[in-house]
Amino acid sequence: MAKPRTIYTCQNCGAQSPKWLGKCPDCNQWNSYVEETYSASLNTRSTGKNSNPALPQLLTEVSAETGEHIPTQVVELDRVLGGGYVPGSAILIGGDPGIGKSTLVLQTLGNLAKLARKVLYVSGEESAAQIKTRADRLDINEKNLWIVTENCLENLLEILREQKPDLIVIDSIQTIYSNTLSSAPGTVSQVRESAGQIIMQAKATGMACILVGHVTKEGSLAGPKVLEHMVDCVLYFESDQGHAFRILRAVKNRYGATNEIGVFEMTGKGLKEIANPSSLFLSERGKPVSGAVVATCLEGTRSLFLELQALVTQSGFANPRRTAIGIDGGRLALLVAVLEKIVGLTLHNQDIFVNVAGGLRVTEPALDLGVSAAIFSSFRNLPIHPKTILIGEVGLTGEIRPVSLIDVRLKEAAKLGFTDAYIPQGNFKKQTVGDLNLYPVQSLEEFLHKLF
Ligand code: TYD
Ligand code: MG
Repeated sequence: MAKPRTIYTCQNCGAQSPKWLGKCPDCNQWNSYVEETYSASLNTRSTGKNSNPALPQLLTEVSAETGEHIPTQVVELDRVLGGGYVPGSAILIGGDPGIGKSTLVLQTLGNLAKLARKVLYVSGEESAAQIKTRADRLDINEKNLWIVTENCLENLLEILREQKPDLIVIDSIQTIYSNTLSSAPGTVSQVRESAGQIIMQAKATGMACILVGHVTKEGSLAGPKVLEHMVDCVLYFESDQGHAFRILRAVKNRYGATNEIGVFEMTGKGLKEIANPSSLFLSERGKPVSGAVVATCLEGTRSLFLELQALVTQSGFANPRRTAIGIDGGRLALLVAVLEKIVGLTLHNQDIFVNVAGGLRVTEPALDLGVSAAIFSSFRNLPIHPKTILIGEVGLTGEIRPVSLIDVRLKEAAKLGFTDAYIPQGNFKKQTVGDLNLYPVQSLEEFLHKLF
């Protein structure tokens, strides 16, 4: 029998070394190496061939995986997953502590159990009684919902073989450990091994699994990046501090698009789905105020309307402040530069703050026009009518560039009761959409002239 091999693994990036190192040469983290023992059976460099080697076949002759999506009936989750979960697939949900991951999965399991699917909740963090308390709060009282509190991987696999559930939730993957490894639960090799075995079992039996993962201080999923490579779908559950709503975002999805978001609100009775999030991000505003505009950003197939606010004030410092909350700081600097150079505003002695109301974070360039107008509006103290929306990307020479999927945005704007829309000339096809009047604009200068 081969001797067990000792190896040192970086807990930050997963790099391995035969000797202990104080500083990881890959990710420069200090003190991140932990000793781990590999038993001989896990050594992949054992003998030669496998007993049943795979044979090459023609792609045209491969029968496609049905890839059938089973709706969980949590509409916002289904939207992000691309219609529901796929049997045999693995989904990883990451998020800060207390954001509502356990609540979300419990509600999902409750829904599926109601649809007569056999589901199993594996909790390594909370006792069955604690889960029961939460389930009572959420009004979940289903027959097909099973619970087990187990941390040992081998025991868990045994349970899965016996119970044969349609879907399991592991809350969380960092608490599961394998007895074949000597390192502590939560270390890179434990997480990798546990997730690997569970996913393999899922693929073999057609059971779907949802793995709940912790995130590190920096906001990436704790444990190795390999975990993200192993699963079919990676979802992040996030929110801004002080806001009750939560956003579920897909960063990887082998069975659907990754640009959809799901919006929830945390209430006293669990997570509530928000079908029309625009209402959440548009603040109630009776009369026009300067520095506030409405812009739209696209999240998947849905158009979100949000309020952009800018405040431009005389600066007392040699280096004026440029603060962007919710949008990219670099983008703000670029727009300020264009406003200075092309439009001729004197902004170099002004502090500029830009904020996306509601705490949303957006990266779409279609917001450029809105940000520029908000800065101009605050600087000159000229209000913009609240029923006006602004769509367009601003280029370095002050030109307004077309944006994608303009029809979706305009249709939604008309539905929400907006009356005027300024859009890029390149997107302009007709004068009106419903009751919404469209105004094409070609350059930033022309646009500001038309608007004010
Ligand atoms: P939880 O799902 O335990 O978070 P995670 O698993 O991501 O750590 O949710 C915890 C928070 O949600 C907790 O601070 C209380 C709040 N909460 C509610 O506001 N309402 C509810 O009905 C429930 C179940 C939780
Ligand atoms: Mg939890």
